[in-house]
Amino acid sequence: MKGVILAGGTGSRLDPLTRVTNKQLLPVFDKPMIYYPIETLVNAGVTEILIVTSGSSAGDFLQLLGNGREFGIDHLGYTYQEGAGGIAEAIGLAEPFVGRDRMLVILGDNIIGGNIVQAARRFEAQPSGAKVLLTEVENPQAYGVAELDGDRIVQFIEKPERPPSNLAVTGIYFYDENAFDLVRQLDRSARGELEVTDLNNAYLARGEMTHDLLEGYWADCGESIEHYLQACNLVAEQGANRINPNPSGPAPSPVGRGLG
Ligand code: G1P
Repeated sequence: MKGVILAGGTGSRLDPLTRVTNKQLLPVFDKPMIYYPIETLVNAGVTEILIVTSGSSAGDFLQLLGNGREFGIDHLGYTYQEGAGGIAEAIGLAEPFVGRDRMLVILGDNIIGGNIVQAARRFEAQPSGAKVLLTEVENPQAYGVAELDGDRIVQFIEKPERPPSNLAVTGIYFYDENAFDLVRQLDRSARGELEVTDLNNAYLARGEMTHDLLEGYWADCGESIEHYLQACNLVAEQGANRINPNPSGPAPSPVGRGLG
């Protein structure tokens, strides 16, 4: 399975911190933000990674990360997204890198306390389709949200005014090789973007979407300056990307908890 880290976007919610650099290069406690999603992927056993970035500081990622060897990455690639076309458009840019393989996509501003080893295993055991990781938040209006009927997800809604649940879709997505064809079939949203929520709904419509609850804390650093600060404090106090001490043992208890 290949890894794809999305490190573009305007970072407008963190302005003026992001006026002269990419959000994912900002510090989170003692490391640049993008180190954490890289570690999340490497901990999950993914060592071929593509970084999709944008903006005038794109070259800084190469200078910072080089060939990725210090993280134990076998192959680190880079590509560039012109403009703000959305997360699903950025995923589409990974097609030449991922080919007919599966991919684990993570947003470059998402930091987790635990790890996603078990979720990756479960996705690999899935014959096809996609998987999302959900977590409870106090402000679901800020995220993609899952509407459930019992245990079954009936739809994903992007930043709903009246959220049907408090389960946010984290920026960690598993997709099979059909993702690129599905992205090509998406229409642009009102804000002119190809939305990852529409891609996830397309998998749902095919009956090929599974979900897990994320273990440990989840921080979306780009959501607001307050969340960015909370993420820095959580990392300082609790660490991040703690590797499952017994990855071949039973799945960790599915207790998700976002910053909200
Ligand atoms: C994006 C997605 C949203 C998801 C969130 C997770 O939102 O559109 O569905 O819940 O990432 O971080 P954004 O942070 O780009 O507003």
